[in-house]
Amino acid sequence: MERRDDVWKSAALSRQYLSGVRGAIPLASQQIDVMLRLIRSARPNLTSFLDLGCGDGILGHAILDHYPGVTGVFLDFSEPMLDAARARLGTGANRHFIAQDYATPDWLRQVQPYAPFDAVVSGFSIHHQPDERKRALYAEIFDLLKPGGIFLNLEHVSSPSRWLEQHFDELMVDSQYDYHVRTGGTRPWQEVADEFYYRPDKAANILAPLELQLDWLREIDYEHVDCYLKIFELALFGGVKPAT
Ligand SMILES: C[S@@+](CC[C@H](N)C(=O)[O-])C[C@H]1O[C@@H](n2cnc3c(N)ncnc32)[C@H](O)[C@@H]1O
Repeated sequence: MERRDDVWKSAALSRQYLSGVRGAIPLASQQIDVMLRLIRSARPNLTSFLDLGCGDGILGHAILDHYPGVTGVFLDFSEPMLDAARARLGTGANRHFIAQDYATPDWLRQVQPYAPFDAVVSGFSIHHQPDERKRALYAEIFDLLKPGGIFLNLEHVSSPSRWLEQHFDELMVDSQYDYHVRTGGTRPWQEVADEFYYRPDKAANILAPLELQLDWLREIDYEHVDCYLKIFELALFGGVKPAT
């Protein structure tokens, strides 16, 4: 049966996301800055990390910039996205690209040879899974971490009300339009808005409340669980596996 999230395997959507949407994400550089601060503090001597649902590897790339030579594992089920990651990162011996779906625990077999990790990061990916699977993934990630290792999920979460959802949508359209104009585009605001509201991946979203996901992390036994940065539906949250 065709799954809604299979839309991410298309070359056209990968291109549209990487060339138009990713660069327009509000607070993108602050999200990466906070992610790196927490990783540096939790794991100053980091030697390995996993970027789950890596796309073109933007998050893992930022980690590699800070820790050159460490082992980075980049996992995605979209071949066009993995091609973009290889193009962005090169194919050095310390970069491992895995074509794999994490919708079932089968993915663990593929990453086990590289585990345990100092850090697991994920960007705007896990919200395509049903809630039960999201929670199971968070527990699987916990088991893949070294003691003291950190999980950071930069994620699309649900709005608590329709009013806030509208604010999020407007912010996204404005920021995509600004990015479009900054990068030399000439399409009218309405066209950019229509592209956002009728985007092909929207139906694949299964958004969950932030508080619920923080509760799951605490139940799993992560420490320092919090939302470290948030703007409407875009949240950077996670936790640290206890050191003992
Ligand atoms: C919105 S993109 C985000 C890419 C990148 N992490 C970023 O921050 O820009 C979502 C990515 O998650 C991947 N993805 C979605 N569901 C997946 C699954 N079940 N298994 C593996 N990858 C998945 C998609 O192929 C896509 O590359």
